[in-house]
Amino acid sequence: MSSLSFDLISIFPDYFAPLKLSLIGKAQESGLIDITLHDLRDKAAGVHKSVDDTPYGGGAGMVMSPEPWGRAIDQVVAGSSAAHHDLIILTPAGEKLTQKIATELSHSEHIIFACGRYEGIDHRVSEYYQTLPNIRVREISIGDYVLGGGEVATLVIMEAVIRLIPGVLGNPNSLVEESHSLPDEIVEYPNYTKPASWRGLEVPEVLLSGNHALIKAWRLEQAKARTQKLGRQTSE
Ligand code: ADE
Repeated sequence: MSSLSFDLISIFPDYFAPLKLSLIGKAQESGLIDITLHDLRDKAAGVHKSVDDTPYGGGAGMVMSPEPWGRAIDQVVAGSSAAHHDLIILTPAGEKLTQKIATELSHSEHIIFACGRYEGIDHRVSEYYQTLPNIRVREISIGDYVLGGGEVATLVIMEAVIRLIPGVLGNPNSLVEESHSLPDEIVEYPNYTKPASWRGLEVPEVLLSGNHALIKAWRLEQAKARTQKLGRQTSE
């Protein structure tokens, strides 16, 4: 039985081909997750199967019409056995993706991704689904830049979420270390592997010492220095 189901709605479902690969591909094969792709165009009416129109109030670009989105999302919800659904609308105007959001989403039962293109999806789609008690709508951005659409952002969020699902990572200790060995909001320390000497550059001595307390302290110090260099706040 799948623990988490994903429904991805887009006019370019082929964008999601990479989901067959690597960890996510394996997680599907082993039944830990279930992913269904939907072509929004199938929900468009008329001979032209149009999914967009000019913006009210004027301005450049096109806005995605609410009707095909409403039909597609209603059908996905009706076909799901989950009691609660997270509807994620990808937009550069949304809350910024963080590890905290990824962790919250990894506990979800069912996630629907609405991948808009052009100037985005008519805002009433977000407003309407927010009125339904069994749906949590989240507008999410993956960063302060504008992409051509939400498909790549969906891939980013899915990768961040799926690796947190128990059983997905070969070595679950990778997650334990990430979440507990460093304080929140701090970036990781630099990592090294063999050989100990490469092009005249040596692995820091302390990492070869076998002294775990010293290594831990060194890694924390390095992580803090990196975080500060990025201009971010550390908790201490
Ligand atoms: N669609 C366009 N740009 C985006 C971004 N930065 N994040 C999420 N969805 C988007």
